[in-house]
Amino acid sequence: MKSDELFALLRRRGLLWPSAEIYGGAQGLYDYGPLGTALKRRVEEAWAAWFVGLSHDYHLIEPAEILPEAVVRASGHLENFTDPEITCEQCHSAFRAETILEKVRPEGVDGLSPTEIAEIVSTRQLRCPNCGSMALSVPRAFNLMFGLEFGVTGKERAYLRPETAQGSYLSFARMWDVGRKALPLGVAVIGKAYRNEIAPRQVLFRMRAFTQAELQIFFDPAHFDVPFERVRDEKLPVLRVPRREAGEETPEWVPASDLVAPGGLPEFYVYHLAHTFRFFRDVLRYPADRIRLFEKSDSERAFYNRIQFDVEVRLESLNGFKELGAVHYRGDYDLGRHGQGSGKDLSVTAPSGEKLLPHVLELTFGVDRNVWGLADVHLGKDGERTVWRLPPYLAPVAVGVFPLMPKEHAPFALRLADDLAGSGIAVQYDAAGTIGKRYARMDEAGTPFCVTVDGRTLADGPERDSVTLRDRDSKSQERVPASELAARIRPALLPPRPSRA
Ligand code: GAP
Repeated sequence: MKSDELFALLRRRGLLWPSAEIYGGAQGLYDYGPLGTALKRRVEEAWAAWFVGLSHDYHLIEPAEILPEAVVRASGHLENFTDPEITCEQCHSAFRAETILEKVRPEGVDGLSPTEIAEIVSTRQLRCPNCGSMALSVPRAFNLMFGLEFGVTGKERAYLRPETAQGSYLSFARMWDVGRKALPLGVAVIGKAYRNEIAPRQVLFRMRAFTQAELQIFFDPAHFDVPFERVRDEKLPVLRVPRREAGEETPEWVPASDLVAPGGLPEFYVYHLAHTFRFFRDVLRYPADRIRLFEKSDSERAFYNRIQFDVEVRLESLNGFKELGAVHYRGDYDLGRHGQGSGKDLSVTAPSGEKLLPHVLELTFGVDRNVWGLADVHLGKDGERTVWRLPPYLAPVAVGVFPLMPKEHAPFALRLADDLAGSGIAVQYDAAGTIGKRYARMDEAGTPFCVTVDGRTLADGPERDSVTLRDRDSKSQERVPASELAARIRPALLPPRPSRA
């Protein structure tokens, strides 16, 4: 589906809509409706089950969203968290340099200096996308953080966090104290991040307030032992820098063991890259041939990274591969900078008695981008019907409960819906229109199971108290005792977890 068509469908079904819509909308801000809120929560729960589930020493926390200026100065965001912005001197519109160069440099502008960007703009005679003028400025570094006046005097500066990761670094010393005092220690955060994007666009892709799920793993670089044999033979779709430089865009399927060959990537990195790939393939169920692990070069990487592979998924609605997550090896950058900035020694004592400053491996994930990705990949036409083949544990509604005849069958169906809801299953009761229309509404919302209460349910005989259970994907129907429904459905609603054995 094209982006506009997909957004129209999601808006019509009340998944999401532009924020402050009655005032004409606010660029880069979206509100989630009931189905969207539920879907987003399930994605977050599945992410936590998988990534926080990687170790008993990984924990979820909820740090503050506002960062004092000293924090973002130390983290480097005040100085470096910028995008090159080009303005049109004719119509005064502002653009990300990437947008102006989009046609001549689809790989983006990471790693290019302002002078190099200006040179491309001039030699390729690029024009303002708004008014067509060639009077385009030299790029300037535009800081993407939202600054705030903090406190009653307004003299203290603070910032909305540009990444959830900062809360984990600020909490590291406390987490060390209250925990087992052992590395690796994982500190995860799921929550909003805020960026004053120059040109918000593509709905959930470049938002000004969006949700990240990020796990920071603090570890001893000399001893980060991972059970590498569990991923050794896993083939990964990597697009490495030399191949990219040779003009290739398709990934190569390379066994994890080859990536760690002498001189290659560290085992701990590839182990987590493989688990991240498995999450996208096995939990979110993006087809493997639509995923690529895109290595960023020295000049393209974020300022804090030593190794970076973005997880990209090919999305029809956005005409190509899009970054939905990443694996960042940040070294000792973060604790080093915050140690200096705060004046607190953030090093810890290893079991050997040696003092060390932990390194950080960051597994980052954009929740909103994946909500969009799940719609792009799993929502489509099957003949006449529109079906969202979401994995059942991600579906906003797990079971639709219908009385065949709204009057006669409603009391039983309502009781059944209450019982299922009471056992923790997300239920939608629907008595409006024909059964076919009710199935269609549920198919479009991704509901994996529908249950119909009919005459056989209430009649004396062998089928008393049984209902029809219909499967979204196969459309098959079977008769099931109402009392067994919850037990039948529940296993499908549990998100997969990685094996820790
Ligand atoms: N802590 C590392 C970090 O923030 P990032 O690549 O800037 O790295 C991580 O962001 C993820 O957050 C991205 O992979 C993407 O999925 C999501 N993301 C980043 N900017 C976004 C935006 N403006 N709108 C929606 N999602 C965004």
